[in-house]
Amino acid sequence: SRYLALVPAAGSGSRFGGPSPKQYLQLNNRPLMWHTLQVLSQVAAISRVVVVISPGDEWFDDFEWDLPKLSVLRVGGASRAESVRNGLQAMEAGEQDWVLVHDAARCCLSVAAVERLIATLADDAVGGLLALPVPDTVKRADGEGRISATVPRQGLWLAQTPQMFRAGLLAEALAAATVADITDEASAVEQYGHKPRLVEGDAQNFKVTYPRDLALARAILAARKE
Ligand code: CTP
Ligand code: MG
Repeated sequence: SRYLALVPAAGSGSRFGGPSPKQYLQLNNRPLMWHTLQVLSQVAAISRVVVVISPGDEWFDDFEWDLPKLSVLRVGGASRAESVRNGLQAMEAGEQDWVLVHDAARCCLSVAAVERLIATLADDAVGGLLALPVPDTVKRADGEGRISATVPRQGLWLAQTPQMFRAGLLAEALAAATVADITDEASAVEQYGHKPRLVEGDAQNFKVTYPRDLALARAILAARKE
């Protein structure tokens, strides 16, 4: 079966702010999400990289993407889950194809992490995602910003992307899910009654969310070029 990457990039970047969505910010002479798409393109097992942008996107056409596996779908929705659902429908994957859903804003993904995900899950019945064990002590807050509980971090993981599932299962799970409750593909698949596998991710694979995240992303990408 094939491995297809699906990259939701239809967000407005409201927490980041600025004149254009964060995925189009210039980072080391390329739009931020060019780096994302480039890493996915470099994975030999992946045959297509499909990026989902907003129907009203005014930026994509201004750039030279120059990535042979890349195609673009202007079917983004109001939420990330909707963008993924629309993209999955429009990309015409076979039911048994593996789809790797990856945030456009995670531009420091490494080829090695994607290869680890694919190698670990190739024979898996369900699929799974990159994730990291929580490194810090976790506190639950009350309404006044005081600690109401310390949550044992044993067994807690932070979800990353790519999240890799068979196209058929993912489409069914997303169709059955209440889109408002879904912040990643795994949660839809969990609600659908399955137990996705956690595969050790990578601290560099963080999501650019705030302007303060840019310095780290720049440094990581610059170091790779040397
Ligand atoms: N995304 C999407 N469609 C949406 C919302 C988000 O395709 N309606 C994408 C974003 O472009 C991003 C990924 O989902 O690549 C992760 O979302 P997030 O980091 O939250 O990006 P934004 O939603 O753009 O940012 P914010 O939540 O701060 O507005
Ligand atoms: Mg968002």
